[in-house]
Amino acid sequence: MDQQERLRHLVLNTHPEDLKIGLTLGLWRTFAHPDVARQLASAGGLINDPAGRASATGDALLGLMEEGLDSPASKPVLARLQGIHDGIDPDLMRFVLTAFTLPPIRFIDQYGWRPLTDTERNDYLSFASGLARELGIQPPAGDVAEWTRWADAYEQQHFGPSCHSLSLWQFAGAPLAARRLPRPLRRPLQRSVANVAGALLDARVRSALGLAAPSATGKHATAALLRLRGWVIRRRQTS
Ligand code: HEM
Repeated sequence: MDQQERLRHLVLNTHPEDLKIGLTLGLWRTFAHPDVARQLASAGGLINDPAGRASATGDALLGLMEEGLDSPASKPVLARLQGIHDGIDPDLMRFVLTAFTLPPIRFIDQYGWRPLTDTERNDYLSFASGLARELGIQPPAGDVAEWTRWADAYEQQHFGPSCHSLSLWQFAGAPLAARRLPRPLRRPLQRSVANVAGALLDARVRSALGLAAPSATGKHATAALLRLRGWVIRRRQTS
């Protein structure tokens, strides 16, 4: 398989749901940056139609991964993204790029039915670097560890609470996660879903979004639930 075939396989067969969860975690991460939060809140989509906008974002990114940046199907998507993001500060763009790249990799490595292989990790990074160039910015240099170092330093300097972060979390945080549950379970499990969602975020993001640290029990329960989910998918994938 060449790189494009491997990426398509990742999106369609090996880790379709994990990628979606990872991208949701990445989206939430962007809420912790006051400037990104302000622009997202002003655009209004995530507040008025959180599920629709979040799916449109995930579908656009996964579609590009599946089809390849050079394919005819990707051209209108790239043109739309170029239009939406024209003139945004390059470091801000690089930060959002890392938010859409590192959380999915981390989520799969930690809770996926199997971790990514080194080749798959490099494929993902190479896709993200190509997307950055299509959007007119230089990606961070190096491998996942170097991207992580760049993102850590940037986030430490820029993350912080804002009224926009709080309203984005209120409308497109836990309510988005709850939509993964069958409708009748959404209301009774609302609080638990909020706890699981909060437990998946690190202290830097939680503090910007005004979320309390999860209890040790909540953290362990979330990890256990996700490991169980990974085990169930592994059985399905390997049977
Ligand atoms: C490489 C970095 C980025 C990527 C890959 C990216 C990706 C996306 C995608 C896939 C969408 C959905 C497009 C659609 O609806 O078809 C979107 C929308 C949007 N993005 Fe970005 N984005 C990036 C950086 C940023 C930054 C830095 C900001 C703000 C500072 C930003 C603000 C927005 C806004 C305001 C929308 C429209 C949201 C709405 O409709 O409510 N993006 N982005």
